[in-house]
Amino acid sequence: MPSYQIELTTADGTLIRFECAENQSLLAAAATANIVLPSLCGQGTCAACHAFVTAGEFVVGEHDPDAVPVEPGQTAVLLCCSYPRSPMRLAAPYEHGRVLFQPNVGREAAIVELTRVAESTVRLLVSLVSAESEGDTAQFEPGQFVELEIPGRDIKRAYSIANDWDGEGQLEFLIRMQPQGRFSEYLMRDARVGDKLVVWGPRGTFHLEEADRRSRWFVAGGTGLAPILSMLRRMAKCADGEEARLFFGVNRETELFAISDIDRLKSDIATLKVEVCVWKPESSWSGFVGTPVDALRRDLKTANAMPDVYLCGPPALIDSAAAAAKECGVAEERIFSERFVQS
Ligand SMILES: Cc1cc2nc3c(=O)[nH]c(=O)nc-3n(C[C@H](O)[C@H](O)[C@H](O)COP(=O)(O)OP(=O)(O)OC[C@H]3O[C@@H](n4cnc5c(N)ncnc54)[C@H](O)[C@@H]3O)c2cc1C
Ligand code: FES
Repeated sequence: MPSYQIELTTADGTLIRFECAENQSLLAAAATANIVLPSLCGQGTCAACHAFVTAGEFVVGEHDPDAVPVEPGQTAVLLCCSYPRSPMRLAAPYEHGRVLFQPNVGREAAIVELTRVAESTVRLLVSLVSAESEGDTAQFEPGQFVELEIPGRDIKRAYSIANDWDGEGQLEFLIRMQPQGRFSEYLMRDARVGDKLVVWGPRGTFHLEEADRRSRWFVAGGTGLAPILSMLRRMAKCADGEEARLFFGVNRETELFAISDIDRLKSDIATLKVEVCVWKPESSWSGFVGTPVDALRRDLKTANAMPDVYLCGPPALIDSAAAAAKECGVAEERIFSERFVQS
């Protein structure tokens, strides 16, 4: 099987080299070389892995043509579903700091707890097996996700970590059950405390921005709350003094979860204000009626200074929250997001 030299230059000019065989995707080949490039869905639908081809030939596997970015005078490529047919040179749209250099190995983890916390949401707690002997490999940054694989079933899905790193190798997840979803059905029907999963990662670059710090406002749609809880838990631990706001939204009250965790955070972070938003509540609901984007827009209009805005949840919510933030004067580079696309 022919194999080719791939050269990828990051936006800040760092050259990264790896080999890729004809039957390997460019993303998978980089991972084999312990180079973890930004990606999300792994199946050509989200564009998170895109780069630009400056030289070389390639073929493209199954993907959503709408996901391929269109930039005048440039040829974009989705690394997760593109296969080289010659040596290639690529230009990445991100800086070297977004690339992780770590072995691509899965870690065994045992299910410690699996609890339904709302109509269609479960809390899954796993404990990494032999985390002690492997030192700090359970370490992650709040905001990151891992991929969970069900052994023997060829099912691997991305889930954001909801807790902060505790040194004990426990990972908490908040997972919405998708109708007919393969991972969802495993959790609902088959998973038991003590069962093993394989954890790949941590991955992702959604994180608390430390440079040029200002107020932090978080917008979470449904289980998009998971990485934001992790960030807020880190802020509580570090006793950060910044003003923080959380806009957490669901469609109906029966979908609400983690309210006691949020209450605890409110008492741990003196500057934290929270708006729980229900889009279509019962008449007894006394809280905010509408989406978290409505609440964000309302508060931004009267803000003294523009905050950093962190968004997580379904892509439609992120797009409308980002548009509202920009409209109100938040600079594009101060909006950070994680999209829960199908993984
Ligand atoms: C970086 C990242 C982090 C994520 N973190 C979380 C998390 O913390 N909590 C969480 O609940 N989910 C999260 N997701 C989504 C998750 O990875 C799965 O896509 C989701 O759980 C569905 O998996 P499944 O196997 O049950 O469904 P599948 O078998 O993959 O799909 C079944 C059906 O559900 C639909 N579907 C699948 N995923 C979604 C989705 N996200 N939104 C709407 N419809 C969908 C499909 O179109 C299909 O019709 C994350 C995704 C990404 C990319
Ligand atoms: S398109 Fe490649 S990771 Fe989503």
